[in-house]
Amino acid sequence: MSERREPVGVIGVGWVGLVTAAGFAELGHPVIARDILPDKVAALSRGELQMHEPGLAEMVRRNAERITFTTEMAELLEGARLLFVCVDTPPTYSGDADLSRVRAVIDELPADGDQVLIMKSTVPAGTGESIRRDLPRLSYVSCPEFLKEGTAVADFMNPDRVVIGANPGDEEAAAAVAGLYAPLGAETLQTDVASAEMIKLASNAFLATKISFINEIANVCEEVGADVGEVARGMGLDERIGASFLRAGIGYGGSCFPKDVSALKMLAGNTGYHFQLLTSVIEVNELQKRRVVGKLQAHLGSLIDKRVALLGLAFKPDTDDMREASSLVLAARLQGEGAEVVAYDPVANARAAELLDSVELAESALEALEGADAAVLVTEWGEFAELDWAAAAARMARPLVVDGRNFLDPGKLRAAGFAYEGIGKKQEIGAPS
Ligand code: UDX
Repeated sequence: MSERREPVGVIGVGWVGLVTAAGFAELGHPVIARDILPDKVAALSRGELQMHEPGLAEMVRRNAERITFTTEMAELLEGARLLFVCVDTPPTYSGDADLSRVRAVIDELPADGDQVLIMKSTVPAGTGESIRRDLPRLSYVSCPEFLKEGTAVADFMNPDRVVIGANPGDEEAAAAVAGLYAPLGAETLQTDVASAEMIKLASNAFLATKISFINEIANVCEEVGADVGEVARGMGLDERIGASFLRAGIGYGGSCFPKDVSALKMLAGNTGYHFQLLTSVIEVNELQKRRVVGKLQAHLGSLIDKRVALLGLAFKPDTDDMREASSLVLAARLQGEGAEVVAYDPVANARAAELLDSVELAESALEALEGADAAVLVTEWGEFAELDWAAAAARMARPLVVDGRNFLDPGKLRAAGFAYEGIGKKQEIGAPS
C-alpha cells in the first residue's frame, strides 16, 4: 500500500496555483486549492479550465479525486499545513508590485497557527521578512515559481532548479518543502528568504535584458545589412552566452517579464538605487512593439484606410494569455495611423475581444487576410507556418508580410509572391508603392 502523502494547500488558483495544485496531486498528495472566485471554483470542480494550457486540463481531471477546490479558507486551514500562496501580484500604476492580494491572504491566517506559508507569488525582496514579523508563529518559506506558460506542466515536472528560501528558525519548514519537491530530482538551492526573492526577480530581469539586447542588435543589423538570426546563432555558440532567449522580434510580453522588470527597477529605486540598465530594457521593449508600423509605412506609404491583418494576438504561442501582449500596442498604433485592423488568433480571440477596441476578429487566418494590404505575424503559432500562403496571396489586396517573430520561411513566402520583411534582416523595400 502506498504511504499517505502530506496534504498540500494552494491559495489562489491562477496559472501558477493550478499547476502547483495539479502537479502535487500528480505526485500523490491530497490537495486543497482555494480561490475567492466562486465561478472559477465551480468550473474547476467540474474539471473545466478557464485558460488554455497544454496538458493541464488532463492533469487536473486525472487527479480529480485528489484535488478539492473551495472558496473557504477554513476548509483549507483544516486540511493542510503546507500552504502555497499563489495569488497574483500585478503592477500598480507606479510600477511597484501590488501586494494587496498577498496581504488579504495574510489577514485571513490565524496568528497562532502552525502552518507553513510557502510564497510562490513573485514579491519584492524584503516582503518575506516583513510577513514573518507580522506572523511570528507561522513558518515562512520563499519558493519562487519559474514555470513558463505553454509548457507549464512539463516545467513543473522537470524544473531547471527548485529555490527554497528560509531564515534561521524555519529550517524544518524548508526541509518539508524540499521533501515535497524531492521526487522531481531537480537541483535544489537552499538560501535565505531575501536571496530567494531576488533570484526570481533577477532571473526574469536578466531574460528580459537578453531579449531587449538582441532586439537592439536586430535594429542595428537592419542598418548594416546583417541578419540577426545568424548573429544570434553565432553568439549562442559561446557557452558563456547561451543560445536561448536570443530570438529577436516585436518585444516581450506576458504576465511576468513586464511586471517583474518594473518591480525590480522600483524595488531598487525605493532603496535609492537607480537601476539604469532596466530603464533601458523597458524602453527598448516599448519601442520594439511599434517598429512594425515603420516597416509597413515603408511599403505602403500612409496607413490611412489600409487594411492590416494581425496573425496571432496572444503574448506567445500555446497560450490564450493576452496580458501585456505586443499585439495590444501594435493594434492601437496602427489604428492611430488610420489603418483598419483585422486579427485572428487560434485560441485568444475571446480574451482579445475584451481588450481590443474596434478590431475585427476573424475565424481563420485566411479570413483575416481577405482583402488585406498587409499581414503582420505577431505570435508564432505553428499553423501560420503551415498556411497555404499562395492561397493567402490570392486573397490579399497586396501580398506583403511583416514577420514580427522571424518565424516564417522567407523563401517560401517570396515563392508565393510575397514581399517579406522580418526583424533584423536586410530590408526588401524600395520606394513605397
Ligand atoms: C516567463 C519566464 O520564462 C518564467 O520563468 C517565469 O516564471 C514567468 O515569465 P512566460 O511569461 O510564460 O515565462 O514566457 P516566456 O516563454 O519566458 O516568454 C516571455 C516573452 O518573451 C514572450 O512574449 C516571448 O515572445 C518573448 N521572447 C522570448 C522573445 O521575444 N524572444 C526570446 O528569445 C524569448
